[in-house]
Amino acid sequence: MNILVLVSGNGSNLQALIDAEKSGRCSEGGRESGGMRIAAVVSDKAGVFALQRANNAGIPAITETPDKSLPREERQRELSDRILRIAGKYNAGLIVLAGFLSILRGNIVKAYSGRIINLHPSLLPDFGGEGMYGDRVHRAVLASGKKESGCTVHLVDGGTDTGPVLLQRRVPVLPGDSAESLAARIHREEHIAIVDAVIRFPELSAL
Ligand code: GRF
Repeated sequence: MNILVLVSGNGSNLQALIDAEKSGRCSEGGRESGGMRIAAVVSDKAGVFALQRANNAGIPAITETPDKSLPREERQRELSDRILRIAGKYNAGLIVLAGFLSILRGNIVKAYSGRIINLHPSLLPDFGGEGMYGDRVHRAVLASGKKESGCTVHLVDGGTDTGPVLLQRRVPVLPGDSAESLAARIHREEHIAIVDAVIRFPELSAL
């Protein structure tokens, strides 16, 4: 199955997927699905390191930035439509949002219903939704006094961080944690979770 990976920044989760594919894990685990292959990477920000990671791996790296002249919803739809065309061009069977900060709206959500997955750095439904990304999530977890956080891979359903959960990995919140230390602990789990979710996607999405 061809995968389109969407990114906005550093791309360490993309790297985890690239490494898993290189090591043969995607083709092994995905045998039932005919194997998984990253067909292309799309970033909504120019010049981010994730694009370089794709280039280094010989994967087509495409930049599609939002059109700032459009009002918010239209801007999200227009970018989503461009990504939908790219997904079609690369015959993507699965779209993976690996640290992608734009919100997908409109046609792509219908055309790829049940075939778009997002990675979020908290135990959804807690600490998700509009504006909950990056360190804001971890700061909110620390402020809440929760003893546990983690990451979630879920299906994208047109809301923000609302689709059915495919898998979660948990980490403790430790005394003295900063947003950075908690983020780092969660990041390590994300790298495992995203690879796991892609390899087991046929099984997980059928549950
Ligand atoms: C991850 O924490 C992911 O959950 C969030 O953005 C971060 C991306 O990290 N949505 P990276 O770009 O994959 O290193």
